[in-house]
Amino acid sequence: MIQYQGSLYRPPSEANSLILQATLGCSYNECTFCGMYRDKRFRVRPIAELREEIAWAADHLRGVRKVFLADGDALVAKASFLHQVLDALNEAFPDLRRISCYASPQALAVRKVEEMRSLRQAGLTQYYLGIESGCDQTLEFLQKGVDSAEMIRVANKAHEADVRLSTMILLGAGNRAGSERHARESARVVNAIQPRFVSTLVMTPVEDTPLYEQWSAGQVDELTPIELAAELRTFLANLELRSSVFRSNHASNYLALKGTLPKDKDALVEVLDAVLADPDKAPFVPDWLRAL
Ligand SMILES: C[S@@+](CC[C@H](N)C(=O)[O-])C[C@H]1O[C@@H](n2cnc3c(N)ncnc32)[C@H](O)[C@@H]1O
Ligand code: SF4
Repeated sequence: MIQYQGSLYRPPSEANSLILQATLGCSYNECTFCGMYRDKRFRVRPIAELREEIAWAADHLRGVRKVFLADGDALVAKASFLHQVLDALNEAFPDLRRISCYASPQALAVRKVEEMRSLRQAGLTQYYLGIESGCDQTLEFLQKGVDSAEMIRVANKAHEADVRLSTMILLGAGNRAGSERHARESARVVNAIQPRFVSTLVMTPVEDTPLYEQWSAGQVDELTPIELAAELRTFLANLELRSSVFRSNHASNYLALKGTLPKDKDALVEVLDAVLADPDKAPFVPDWLRAL
């Protein structure tokens, strides 16, 4: 049996994947907005436990093609351990096509390019990276632990290893006064990284996080759906991507958009211009349907 421990998160595009908790929690766990792993201490799970879960899944699940390694930054585990996990997965699932995991900037900083390349050859071909913002003040406000230059440097290590990146930007993270700068600077950093996938989420204060405390004390602006649409418009208009997929389909968004860039850039910007011109007709997702 697979015994999931504590809360479990995965990107929307891993909805059909087998989720395996290679590590528990997040080794960094300090981003002010993130309450996902505050209920557990970071640890790498024993390989014997994982082998048992993989064997159970091989016996009980048919045609596993995608595996997502949880929790928050599985890439931070030693490369030798990750190789053992990948080998067990490859042996158990003959139809396996993709293994992916979350990779924080801290995890990307510790992993060597050669390690990432060798792990990619063993099947770990995609990382999800929370860029959150390209604006240094905003990254500092979020306590992401890196500035934009370091974010670009570590993301490009993954590209050097030929690993695909799926990146997240947090709409609303720059507050009201910094919204425009957050949008422009985020586009600058995403342009420098050229990720295969870029998605936006809406920053949401969740209880028991420093962001929630700041929000409760009135120190954080909650942008309206229209302000967020304006921010997204600036972000998209400033993207210069050669071949990426853009998505705002995460459940935290007010507007679910999708397109391939650069082909659909003008059309996406036009959709947002129409929303801003006539907000009453905008297809905003109601708050009760939004979630993290
Ligand atoms: C589980 S985290 C893992 C990310 C990875 N550890 C990293 O730092 O790159 C996935 C993403 O969820 C999003 N997220 C977490 N808390 C959020 C919140 N309170 N509001 C909106 N998005 C949030 C962030 O974009 C974050 O990068
Ligand atoms: S966003 Fe990523 S690095 Fe930051 S606390 Fe959450 S899981 Fe950890």
